[in-house]
Amino acid sequence: MTKQDALFEITKDHLETGLRGYPVGHCPTSYVDAQKGLFYAGIAIDELIGWVPQEVIYLLYQGKKGSKEEVEVFHANLKKRAGCSDELKKSICSLPRQGHPMKLFCAALLLCGMVEGKGDYREDCLNLIAKIPEVAAIVINHHAGWGGTNPSLPDLGYIPNFVHMLNAPDIDRKTLMPVFQLFNILHYDHGGGNLSTFIGKAVASGLEDMYGSMASAMCALAGPRHGKANQDCLEFVKEVASTLGEGATEEEMEDLLRHRLANKQLVYGFGHAVLRVEDPRATVQYDYAKHHFPNHPLVRIALLLRNAGTKVLKENPKVTNPYPNVDAISGTLLTAAGFPHPEYYTVLFGTSRVVGIAIQTVYERCEARGGKGTPIVRPKYFYRPREEISS
Ligand code: MLT
Repeated sequence: MTKQDALFEITKDHLETGLRGYPVGHCPTSYVDAQKGLFYAGIAIDELIGWVPQEVIYLLYQGKKGSKEEVEVFHANLKKRAGCSDELKKSICSLPRQGHPMKLFCAALLLCGMVEGKGDYREDCLNLIAKIPEVAAIVINHHAGWGGTNPSLPDLGYIPNFVHMLNAPDIDRKTLMPVFQLFNILHYDHGGGNLSTFIGKAVASGLEDMYGSMASAMCALAGPRHGKANQDCLEFVKEVASTLGEGATEEEMEDLLRHRLANKQLVYGFGHAVLRVEDPRATVQYDYAKHHFPNHPLVRIALLLRNAGTKVLKENPKVTNPYPNVDAISGTLLTAAGFPHPEYYTVLFGTSRVVGIAIQTVYERCEARGGKGTPIVRPKYFYRPREEISS
């Protein structure tokens, strides 16, 4: 079949579906199986729990598990590249603080490219991965008005250094660190076709540099159907908690959800474009929350929601995936661990996802098609007058 023939196979039902399921390329870092969930370089995500960030980043970057020595050399390289210049720090801190912090995060990425960009996808990939914890810490501290950012100490470790740089009030760094590290690792990558990754690579296909492409990717992540879902889910868990109270029963939860659905209100944290099972990234976090914060009132509500949500959504045969996704629990876990600042949860997601997007961008720009790189993204749209389309 020629490319032209293939176009004739496409019917109206295939259009305006968000490209759902259309194969468009190769992804050398990770994939998402509808039944088994996320795999990084062939390893199931739940097998990576307990790995440190540099091991997982090496796995994604090289496509294979590194030996102890290989990971050490890689980590030393990242540490050398970490650290933002004074000019960059000053520029980020002169940005306005209005609006959602993701706006600031996207702007900070553009500034990072202006001040520190090398115009080389490979170099910029590693530099960006190395610097992003500090960029994010500066953005959050500045936006929140938490004062200056503690000086970066890369020797502490990738996420321990991030936690050290954050100036959030009343923060218990010991409790928070493993939760941030878990969150960070779980969100590095999610196949090639999630919106932010797809957009970042599409922008890079026009040969925009790594930082501009990443800023676009992060604008894509900022929307409530994508990265901001973690913030919205926590707000939902809190709303449900305040409606039902701490002693809520399963029945009360089910009734509340049925009532919401009957009133066309959203039930947040369920469903996924690809997955048809509970998101393993959610399972890992539910387990962590149950083990470490079993008595936290929001953890209790999130666990009730996990069961009741699936049960109630299953009552509607049109719902293809009635199971919780990663966002259903991540905000609750961060809150229980002592970071009750939902407006920054999408920035944390972005700080992590930068890793996968940067590595995938290097593949598409420098390695795909025998090193030629993928061509500029340019899909076809059919012209139809409006009256015809809507009929
Ligand atoms: C993600 O991690 O990017 C989300 O689960 C969305 C997706 O995979 O489409």
